[in-house]
Amino acid sequence: MSNQKVDYQPPITERNRSQIIIGIDFGATFTAAAYAVASDGMRKVKVLSQWPKSFARPIKGFPKQPKIETVGYYNQYLNMVGWSESEDEVISYAGYPRPGIQKIEEFRYHIAPLKDANLESPPLPPGKTIEGVMVDFLSHVRQSILSQLPDASDLSLDASHISHRYFITIPASWDEDARSKLRSMAIEAGFRVRSETDFALVTGTEAALFQADFDDSSSFQVGDNILVADCGGHLVEMVTYEVKSKNPLRLAKCTGLSVEAAGASAISSCFHNIVREKIKKMKLVNRPPRVYAKCRDFFRSEVIPQFGNPDYPPPAFLDLKRAGDFWCDVGIELEFPEADIEEGCMWFTKEEMLSCFDPSVNQILGMIEEQFCAIKLQQKTLKSCLLVGGSLVNPYISSRVNSCLSLHEIKVIQSDTNLTCVKGTVLAGMRDVYD
Ligand SMILES: Nc1ncnc2c1ncn2[C@@H]1O[C@H](COP(=O)(O)OP(=O)(O)OP(=O)(O)O)[C@@H](O)[C@H]1O
Ligand SMILES: [Mg+2]
Repeated sequence: MSNQKVDYQPPITERNRSQIIIGIDFGATFTAAAYAVASDGMRKVKVLSQWPKSFARPIKGFPKQPKIETVGYYNQYLNMVGWSESEDEVISYAGYPRPGIQKIEEFRYHIAPLKDANLESPPLPPGKTIEGVMVDFLSHVRQSILSQLPDASDLSLDASHISHRYFITIPASWDEDARSKLRSMAIEAGFRVRSETDFALVTGTEAALFQADFDDSSSFQVGDNILVADCGGHLVEMVTYEVKSKNPLRLAKCTGLSVEAAGASAISSCFHNIVREKIKKMKLVNRPPRVYAKCRDFFRSEVIPQFGNPDYPPPAFLDLKRAGDFWCDVGIELEFPEADIEEGCMWFTKEEMLSCFDPSVNQILGMIEEQFCAIKLQQKTLKSCLLVGGSLVNPYISSRVNSCLSLHEIKVIQSDTNLTCVKGTVLAGMRDVYD
C-alpha cells in the first residue's frame, strides 16, 4: 500500500467530530458493515465482525469472515427468529433448518429484479411480503451494528453529541423507485432517515473506487478512465468512470451501465437443475434424503471456490472412466448408474460443470467488450479495471476475466474482492464530513 494516501484531510468542524459514519454493504447474497469515527479520520475504518454467532461453525470452503449471509429464518408465528448464517435455535447440527423453520434467501435481489433475468422469487411464509422480510432483516442488522459500535466513553466524546450516519450500498442499476422503497423500509426497520445525509445510498461500483484510491492512490490519475466490474452473487454490474479530480476523489460516469444476473447464483441454479434431472432418473417414490441439499452445499462450498484450479478435482478414486470427473458424496449405498450415482457419490463431468459456468462467464466477457467499445467510440482509452465482488473467488471466472482484460491491454487494479465495497462505503460517507 502506498504511503501517500489521503494526504489531504481538511480541518474537521466541531459539529462533525462526533459523527460515526457507518457503511453497510447490503448485498443480495452477503452483507457486511464497517464504521469510522469522524474525529479519528479516514485511516481508521473498522469492519464489524461480531455478528450473532456468525460462522460459529465455519462452512467448508468459506473462510471465517466478517460477511454474513443475507438470509432470514421464520418460525410459524412469522417472526424472524434467526438471521445470518448460524443460529443454533434454527439450524440443526447438520446445517439444515429445524422443523417448522423456513429459510428465506434472495429477498434483496427481488426488490428490484432485472426484467429479463429469470430468477424465481423465493417462497415466502404465508402473509409475509418481500418488503416485510427486508424490514425484518434490516432491523436485525441495525440492532446488531449498534451493539457492536464503541460507546461514547470508549471514544472520549460527549454522548449527547454523537450522531450516527448510515451509508448503504445499492446496485448501480436500481432506479429511483427501488431507492425510495429501500428508504421507506429502512425507516420501518428503525433507521433514522431524517435526510439524505443521515441515510444515504451509494452504488457498490463507486464505493469500490473510493477504497481502491485509498488503498493505493497511485492506481489511477486525473483523466484516467477506469472500468469498475462488480461481480456480485447475483448481479454483475460494470460501468466506466472518468477520474475528474483526486484529493478529493471526484468521478464522472462516462459509459452506460452494463448489468446481468450472471453471478455465482445464476451458475448455481444451472447446477441445481442438473441435480434435479439426475434425481428424477433415480425413479424413487419418495424423495431421496438430502441428495439435493448435499449437492447444493457441495457446489457452494467446493465447486465455486475451486473450479478452474488445475489440481481440482483431485484424481478420482473410482476408475479411469471417471478420471477428471467431479463428485459429491451423497451418502447413498445403492447404485443408480442412470442418475450418475456410484460408490455413494453423485458424479458430474467437466462438460456438465462448464455448461453451468460458461453462459455466465460469456455474459461477463460480453459486458467487458461492451464497456471497451463504448469507451473506444468516444475515442478515449480504457486504462484499467477494478475487479470486486465475491463471484471472482472462483478461479475459472477470475482467470477468464483477467485474460479478456489483458487481451485489451487493460491493467487490473488489485483489491480485496470481498471487503472493498463495505470499506469504500464508509469513505464515501466521510466525504462531506471534511467538506
Ligand atoms: N469463500 C468463498 N467461498 C465460496 N464462495 C464465495 C466465497 N466468498 C464469496 N463467495 C461467492 O461470492 C458470492 C457473493 O459475492 P458478493 O458478496 O460480492 O455478492 P453480493 O454483494 O451479496 O451480491 P450482489 O452484488 O448481487 O448484491 C457468493 O454467492 C459466493 O458464491
Ligand atoms: Mg455486492
